[in-house]
Amino acid sequence: MLKIYTDKKKILRTKCQEIENITTKDINLVKEMIEFLKLSQDDEYAKKNHIEPGIGLAAPQIGVPSRFFAIYLVDGEKTYEFGLINPVIERTSVKQVYLSTGEGCLSVPQKHDGYVMRYYKVVISGFEVLSNQKQTYTLYGYPAIAVQHEMDHLDGVLYYDHIDKNNPFNVAPGAKPIY
Ligand code: NI
Repeated sequence: MLKIYTDKKKILRTKCQEIENITTKDINLVKEMIEFLKLSQDDEYAKKNHIEPGIGLAAPQIGVPSRFFAIYLVDGEKTYEFGLINPVIERTSVKQVYLSTGEGCLSVPQKHDGYVMRYYKVVISGFEVLSNQKQTYTLYGYPAIAVQHEMDHLDGVLYYDHIDKNNPFNVAPGAKPIY
């Protein structure tokens, strides 16, 4: 069972380093993160083990200052399940979106109300652990928001850093709500 670090810990504010030589150990750890997310969405399991449901998990959240994260997210008919090592955002849209419920994070027990503006579309690439090769994904909406949130973790940024302190429900011109 993975131990999740909260935002009280310095590692959540650390800029993570690329992994130069990806090992089987790294790959297995990212796979374990995907499994953790999957289990966290099982109500019975989550309740029994006192964990919150999560759709994404980044290395610093489990105490590792390296550039990788896992996603397990069901959005309508589609399931997004992958783990990326050394991920890079190749392109983004101009168009912005935000979660109408606000964002949450397994490392942030305290709720921070407000909207986080994200790009509607991202093209992201990296070494993907389940397929064991480099992959490039073009994501829109909810999964695009999720990977931007995880990429932020790798630079020590938390979702509430993006919330406008004076006007937390401020919406950028043209940005559209999701859910
Ligand atoms: Ni998070």
